[in-house]
Amino acid sequence: MPHPARFCSAVEWAAGLDVGGIHREKLHAVTDRECLDLLQWAAPRLRLRWAGFRRSSIRGQVRKRLGRRLQALGLPDAAAYRARLEVDADEWAVLDALCRVTISRFYRDAHVFDALRDVLLPPLLEALPPGGTFRVWSAGCASGEEPSTVAILFRLGLQPRFPHVRLELLATDADEALLARARRGCYPRGSLRELPPEWRARAFLGTHGPADSSDTHGAADSSDTHGPADSSGTHGAADSSDTHGPADSSGTHGTADPSGTHGAADASGTHDAADSSGIHGAADASGTHGAADASDSDDEPCIDSAYREGVTFLRQDLRTEMPDGPFHLVLCRNVAFTYFAPPLQLEVLARLRTRLVPGGLLAIGGHESLPEHGAEWTRAAGALPLFRKTSS
Ligand SMILES: C[S@@+](CC[C@H](N)C(=O)[O-])C[C@H]1O[C@@H](n2cnc3c(N)ncnc32)[C@H](O)[C@@H]1O
Repeated sequence: MPHPARFCSAVEWAAGLDVGGIHREKLHAVTDRECLDLLQWAAPRLRLRWAGFRRSSIRGQVRKRLGRRLQALGLPDAAAYRARLEVDADEWAVLDALCRVTISRFYRDAHVFDALRDVLLPPLLEALPPGGTFRVWSAGCASGEEPSTVAILFRLGLQPRFPHVRLELLATDADEALLARARRGCYPRGSLRELPPEWRARAFLGTHGPADSSDTHGAADSSDTHGPADSSGTHGAADSSDTHGPADSSGTHGTADPSGTHGAADASGTHDAADSSGIHGAADASGTHGAADASDSDDEPCIDSAYREGVTFLRQDLRTEMPDGPFHLVLCRNVAFTYFAPPLQLEVLARLRTRLVPGGLLAIGGHESLPEHGAEWTRAAGALPLFRKTSS
């Protein structure tokens, strides 16, 4: 049998799991201050921006992983880890993986998806030749929540009007463990709760029947900011909340998932796709998120394979690699324009532009802004974080 480490990303390993699912010893405590100091010192060397980790709840993810890494290395504190980094060039790749914030959820920033479906995508699809292909890239796709949202939106919200258009969706992420989960396609119910209820019921196996009626998210769904179930798939009130923004701390989504599926650190109702430190609890520890194990979803609804048609997951580091394109829509949300250093943001933006068709759309995170740019981009939908590539 191959060594367990082969199956684990650095994040998972440092998060304290092995393939047998045995948690390592007690977590070594790294304080928020230590974490912040380390990020301030190390982020520029990784071409990251420490201010992207400005919220302590975001840093919490990194802090926990650091604790486990220190423990694994037998180091007493963050200062010792820094000394280790000074002399061990290979450790930087581990730190890089520890710094990836992996929180995501379906239909995140509902108004963005509503605008895409209702206003922005129909003209793009209309302009395609008969039998044409609608090409999408989700960069930094986590466990597939974002690209799957697009696939569901396309099949249920657009394809009825454009039956001859095919979807080709490429989803990339730097973390192989997340991609394995994405390919498996099973999710904690909490990460689905912003998805319009009818779409959730149609696209996911296991969201019907008794399991669903006892679902602890049922109550949240009917009382949350999106208002009552809406068979048209549109959301009610705006969801401007984002894990990176102040709206989150206001508790728009209430407190932590009452089912306990999510860890306490995730009070926004978002799904931390990679931090196995209790977020996924036993499901993760038993390895059920591994790519090959689709036998037991532990009551996690799994996406119907029909919504996987045309969807490909691929490991790529956005800092150094990009697919060729051209794409009609690129989603690059809550990754480059939050965590990358400003010069790298500019570089990435310029390269993203070359991957879009003229008039193509770029979606960024709800609390992100594009780095300084000229007339190459225009806003596509008022204040929403959607931009159109101009032909200049
Ligand atoms: C905060 S999540 C955002 C997920 C999704 N785009 C969303 O907005 O819900 C950021 C994702 O970007 C990935 N990521 C971070 N750095 C990356 C890099 N250099 N290249 C590719 N993916 C990266 C992380 O692994 C993580 O899955």
